[in-house]
Amino acid sequence: MNKWSRLRYSPCLPIGKDGRRITGSDEHIRLSREAAAEGMVLLKNEKRLLPLRDGKRIAVFGKAQYDYVKGGGGSGDVTVDHVTNIYEGLKIKESEGKICVYDGLIDFYKNESERQYSCGTHNGMTSEPELPQELLDKAAAYTDTALITICRFSGEGWDRKGKPQDGDFYLSAQEEKMIDSVLDRFKNIIVVINAGAQTDSEWYHSNDRISSVLYAWQSGMEGGLAIADIICGDVTPSGKLADTFAKRFFDYPSSDSFEESEDYVKYYEDIYVGYRYFETIPGADKKVNYPFGFGLSYTDFEISDINAYLNENTINVSASVTNTGKTYGKEVVQVYYSAPQGKLGKPSRELAAFKKTDLLAPGETRKVYMAFPVYDMASYDDTGKIKMSSYILEKGSYRFYVGNSVRNTVKADFEYIIDNDIITEQLTQQAAPCKLEKRMLSDGSFENMPSYKNNTKRSEPEPLAAEAPNSPAMLIDVCEGKVSLDSFIKQLTDDELIGLVYGQPNTGVADTYGMGNLGKYGIPNVMTADGPAGIRILPDRGVTTTAFPCATALACTWDPELIYRVGKAGAKEAKENNIGIWLTPAMNIHRNPLCGRNFEYFSEDPLLTGKMAAAKVRGIQSQHIAASAKHLCANNKEVNRMDSDSIVSERALREIYLKGFEICVKESQPWTVMSSYNLINGARASENYDIITNILRNEWGFKGMVTTDWNNHADECKELLAGNDIKMPFGFHEQIKEALAEGKITRSDIEVCVKCILEMIMKLD
Ligand code: BGC
Repeated sequence: MNKWSRLRYSPCLPIGKDGRRITGSDEHIRLSREAAAEGMVLLKNEKRLLPLRDGKRIAVFGKAQYDYVKGGGGSGDVTVDHVTNIYEGLKIKESEGKICVYDGLIDFYKNESERQYSCGTHNGMTSEPELPQELLDKAAAYTDTALITICRFSGEGWDRKGKPQDGDFYLSAQEEKMIDSVLDRFKNIIVVINAGAQTDSEWYHSNDRISSVLYAWQSGMEGGLAIADIICGDVTPSGKLADTFAKRFFDYPSSDSFEESEDYVKYYEDIYVGYRYFETIPGADKKVNYPFGFGLSYTDFEISDINAYLNENTINVSASVTNTGKTYGKEVVQVYYSAPQGKLGKPSRELAAFKKTDLLAPGETRKVYMAFPVYDMASYDDTGKIKMSSYILEKGSYRFYVGNSVRNTVKADFEYIIDNDIITEQLTQQAAPCKLEKRMLSDGSFENMPSYKNNTKRSEPEPLAAEAPNSPAMLIDVCEGKVSLDSFIKQLTDDELIGLVYGQPNTGVADTYGMGNLGKYGIPNVMTADGPAGIRILPDRGVTTTAFPCATALACTWDPELIYRVGKAGAKEAKENNIGIWLTPAMNIHRNPLCGRNFEYFSEDPLLTGKMAAAKVRGIQSQHIAASAKHLCANNKEVNRMDSDSIVSERALREIYLKGFEICVKESQPWTVMSSYNLINGARASENYDIITNILRNEWGFKGMVTTDWNNHADECKELLAGNDIKMPFGFHEQIKEALAEGKITRSDIEVCVKCILEMIMKLD
């Protein structure tokens, strides 16, 4: 097919071998199931109750067996052909003779769920129905083993609830009642949680009556089957937590201020997010039920022969992993460093590298190798304690810990010792806060923060040094090297230029609008589509796609190669449906469990976030589809997301909230980045010159195009001046024209944005 044929004419042509459609194909659905099982985390398995085998009888409780949630709502949703729920997944295993499922309960749960749906309740938001005594009695007569299911749903534009018994972070009163009655009657108890983010873990952690807990996340369209794969031991669990599971909601340091105001969020805990808080702040270790990186297997592993050394400013770590148990399995080896406290204060552990093994047979040993630059261990000095606005390796000893969770590690013999502070990068102050009164230090106390003024001077863009071509040129002429892009742009009138810096109408099956669309010059109208769990096409378009597990589940696989495959598969579906830009990966940090969109994001840790996002981007762009790393940045709360100000120190921005984006940009150069809705220290993200031009482009070397998030509240001219190239899904032509006439913006300001947009389009097939 010729370049851009799909983008221009939307032909309905399959791209699979022998003319097969690849969208929602068996192959992709199998991949979704594989990723789902890989990301599930086994939190508890006393007396090795799991896996269930040999036709073991079980009774399944909880409406979640029917009301299974494949993923969150809003732009993160995916329209699918079918969803395999937990009950159905288990019944498939029954048909294979692996377990026997008591059938007397499903009609009750099905009818109750359907009744609530018919009253307008969303799947996953139904309340737990009261279990009739008679059903309980009959189930107890059938078996002594119960599987309790609990599900949660959340979505875009709203946050979750964190009060006891409200049925969100905590169990509802009805769920507690159901669980108590099941605990009373059954000897063996298994729990399966189907949620997109953390929920309360205390009720099963502290209860000896509950033997096994599988945290199954929102695992896509085949999640029920993937759960059954693990319950029956067809897959050995190997997922590891991408977030810390604390004892109570208020144990998370951000919980106190999460709901303080709708207008702002103050990031007082600073860099002490997730395990950086729990592993560092005195006494906080007691608040953890399941630490970051934790996850059980059906087999056992020994990590030995740990070796670390320095070579050319890179720390190299190797270890041997031996499967010492009786069944096949995979282990994730994690390397953490501990930097000297120095003057800046440091988290006592920070993830530096990780590696998941392939499937190891009992008795098999695999050597794993990991490496990272010493400079990655530097901290940012944002108040001038040592050297203002620089990344510094403070003098002292850097220690390395290797293991299978942040808690279960062995210290390597090698230490990286430096006698003097090393400035690894001298930067300039960007996006600093003026209204953050205080921030947390590593001993749990708070220091007062200075109030900074934003003094950034914007540099005028260089005018394009080219003449318009003698005769009209088409964009394809630029691709073929016949005309330079600068010269191509020079021939466009002001109106034509302006028309390129905002979104264009939908064509084909798209529902999130396009970019480009200047037929006169052969610029295709390139369609976009959401979202992190798969290509999202609205139901009325008549196309169903593959729903992969939510991003948190993908992060828990700790397997970038698998995420690459998910990215590649989704990009193929984009291509087949004539979409050019896939609005993923979403990569905000899990600052607090209540953020309504945590399911779309990977982790509380920026390194894991960055590595997973980079892998997905590589997979997507291998198909000549543009990825869009979003939402830059500090979009960690949904309520009033368009106007809420994230008030945060520059250090926390750089080390936590920007770091994942930095890793992703430097490793895989996404062709587009999406700025977020919120304000960052008083300036809207899309109007934020410091973030978009100074940090993203100038410091990190981002070469792509920046889009706004959809229908934001920002001023398009300010956005263009900040380096945000395009406003989506549409813009305000007359406003830009007026600003141009009044000299508020120049033609060069628009030309640089158009250049980024066209460069991105030229990379597409
Ligand atoms: C979301 C983005 C999404 C966009 C387009 C916005 O509401 O925040 O993540 O890509 O809509 O649907």
